[in-house]
Amino acid sequence: MPVTVLAIESSCDETSAAVCTDGRILSNFIANQKVHERYGGVVPELASRAHIQNIVPVVQAALQTANCELSTVDAIAFTQSPGLIGSLLVGSEFAKSLSLSLNKPLIAVHHMQAHVLANLIADPKPRFPFLCLTVSGGHTQIVRCESPSQLTVIGETIDDAAGEAFDKSAKLLGLPYPGGPLIDKYAQQGYPKRFRFPEPQIPGLNFSFSGLKTSILYFLQNAGRSNQFKEEFTATEEEKKKFIEENIADICASIQDRIISILLNKLKKAAVQTDIKDLCLAGGVSANSGLRKAFTQMGEQNGWNTFIPAFEYCTDNAAMIAITGYYKYLEGDFADLSVSASARASW
Ligand code: KG4
Ligand code: ZN
Repeated sequence: MPVTVLAIESSCDETSAAVCTDGRILSNFIANQKVHERYGGVVPELASRAHIQNIVPVVQAALQTANCELSTVDAIAFTQSPGLIGSLLVGSEFAKSLSLSLNKPLIAVHHMQAHVLANLIADPKPRFPFLCLTVSGGHTQIVRCESPSQLTVIGETIDDAAGEAFDKSAKLLGLPYPGGPLIDKYAQQGYPKRFRFPEPQIPGLNFSFSGLKTSILYFLQNAGRSNQFKEEFTATEEEKKKFIEENIADICASIQDRIISILLNKLKKAAVQTDIKDLCLAGGVSANSGLRKAFTQMGEQNGWNTFIPAFEYCTDNAAMIAITGYYKYLEGDFADLSVSASARASW
């Protein structure tokens, strides 16, 4: 008998629902919340309210697109953690109510595990064990995956996440939130070696991005007068603005180039250390065109197989919750109605 999973994702500022049958995604509907743009970041209370407004139409749209009746769904999967607690609660309580009223099993999914397993949506799939560089707005991790349920974090950021590095840099440049996609856009016209931001020296497989943010801050304060990336000279607001306007493409390309080299140097190190040859990308930052290109090139140069989820499965989406739910269904890993959403969670 085919297995159909209805999945709900509401961990941050996207309300999403998806349907998958036997691991094949039939629909993936995402409602973005524009309300946060003017605040320069996600406002948790506004996110929860928008989820409440979106969830019924989004689930209906996912079922309709998949040509699926609620009565034919075999299980309800939802994002249990980590994320904004108010946002998670909307999706989790909705999923629990559906599970109770339909008398169908409930599957609790870890959002970061789901980002990794987005790599199992399309063919060809990576073979186990594989490594996954998971880069999102809240996380930067290298994950070793032995099976869909056996995942171990072998490296992670000690401060900011890669997505935060993009968004905070964009904020310093006066760009709106979320700045990652805008840096990506400007970088495509820029020269990435023009400004050489320093690379942090962090031992092992861990990452750090807070130093980069500070060097960008000083660099902009100097308005290009110095390449030292430290506090030397404070330009006037006008000088700063003019410098950014005239050099936005090269600045974005140089920032992006440094973030990519920080990420890929550590992933390369992990691949050599573990002798694992199947490498995946995941998370919102894997939508970055420069990272996708450099990651693929790294694979070609070293004889490694590289995998990147389709664009729509990189940023937050319910298809990744559905595929994770499907594997959990096969393992009989169900939750009961006492399960509750959690803002933080270990693996
Ligand atoms: O995985 P995600 O959608 O949400 C979290 O779970 O955090 O990741 C969102 C992050 C944001 O920081 C956003 O700026 C970044 O992904 N992002 C990008 C791009 N698209 C999204 N960063 C760089 N380039 C992009 N094209
Ligand atoms: Zn995410």
